[in-house]
Amino acid sequence: MEKVVALCKRRGFIFQSSEIYGGVSGLYDYGPYGVALKRSIRELWWRHTVDLRDDVVGLESTILMHPSVWRASGHVENFVDPLRQCEGECKRRWRADHVEGDRCPHCGGPLGETRQFNLMFRTNLGPVEDTGSAVYLRPETAQGMFVDFKNVINSMRVRVPFGIAQQGRSFRNEITPGNFVFRLREFEQMEMEFFVKPGDDQRWFEHWKQERLRWYTDVLGVKAANLRLRDHGADEKAHYAKASTDIEYVYPFGWGEVEGIASRTDFDLRAHQENSGQDLSYLDPETNERFLPYVIEPAVGVDRILITCLLDAYDEDEVKGETRVVLRFSPNIAPVQVAVMPLSKKEELITPAREVLGLVRSHFRVEYDQTGGNIGKRYRRQDEIGTPFCVTVDFDTINDRAVTIRERDSMEQVRVPIAELVEQLKTVTVH
Ligand code: GAP
Repeated sequence: MEKVVALCKRRGFIFQSSEIYGGVSGLYDYGPYGVALKRSIRELWWRHTVDLRDDVVGLESTILMHPSVWRASGHVENFVDPLRQCEGECKRRWRADHVEGDRCPHCGGPLGETRQFNLMFRTNLGPVEDTGSAVYLRPETAQGMFVDFKNVINSMRVRVPFGIAQQGRSFRNEITPGNFVFRLREFEQMEMEFFVKPGDDQRWFEHWKQERLRWYTDVLGVKAANLRLRDHGADEKAHYAKASTDIEYVYPFGWGEVEGIASRTDFDLRAHQENSGQDLSYLDPETNERFLPYVIEPAVGVDRILITCLLDAYDEDEVKGETRVVLRFSPNIAPVQVAVMPLSKKEELITPAREVLGLVRSHFRVEYDQTGGNIGKRYRRQDEIGTPFCVTVDFDTINDRAVTIRERDSMEQVRVPIAELVEQLKTVTVH
């Protein structure tokens, strides 16, 4: 983990938020390569969850919602973690289930009684700060899909089974954020509520478990051996869940949740129906049956996928007696998919290199490196950020109209005519 954290800062993936003021725990900024990696994860999720399917539509709801949403959903009452505060010198707060015994793990002082701490951030809408104006920053995007369920079925030609998907920021006042961007206070979620007929829920639960697991291996390129499905025990399930299964990854700190897949029954639609007084039932046009759909929900954080991909891709090997740091990203997610570099800064190479850049730019995420100097060093820089292909323009290019593609993992080089370059690169880059 330390090596990945250092690489992230050194190479512009992730910075501590407000670092010049000492940083804030649980908040991180994404630098240029981090943004590119995050965007590709987000886009691949959207493509495979919405665009490539006939039965899922998109939504973007607000971060601030009517406060009744969170009372109805059970978050005001149940979205809590057990907290114990040090009554000794350091006054630190700990999640009660993360400490053993009655002593503060930091200063050894006595720990106070366990109390329930609500993880939702509160703020006020409008200029008056009273309880009537209190609203919450959403702790999950999911409630937007339930609250807009009626709007979607009335405006779209959707029929159960179908899903509503959303990507967006969520906020949780985690007592102990940590493990870099694994547990944050501000993060981004990608969630899909899949509405099914009661009775069909188990079948769809199984479907989504397999479908989501497959996305990690086949689309993001995460190693299958590092992933597993783990069913929640009765004592672990969220207040809304009938059953839950986590997709877990073997992190340096042990197996941990990447994504949760929950069978939420009609808990949320029923709660919003009761609290809003609005009929949220669905009329099946074929059977004329009216019912509240059940819900299967795959829910994940972009930041958590990002750290998973970074850890999974990090590798070191020996090249000519030197350690090579390499991120073995799938070309699908690599922040830079193709680096174009003229062998020297001479004008006669810059012109064809710029021409090659123009050709590949509309198909791939591209970086142009004209720094000149040692080509080996430039390849290493690209290895470190996980660029799968470097395209080098050299003096032969002027006569043979061909370039060299250098592949990151094998370090093999092949000569390709410029006219065939894009097609050649496309065969190994799936979007
Ligand atoms: N709507 C259901 C829900 O929010 P969750 O298991 O609490 O369920 C879903 O969160 C996913 O969101 C998690 O699997 C994780 O990927 C991500 N996530 C949750 N809390 C997070 C945090 N504090 N920091 C980063 N990601 C988080």
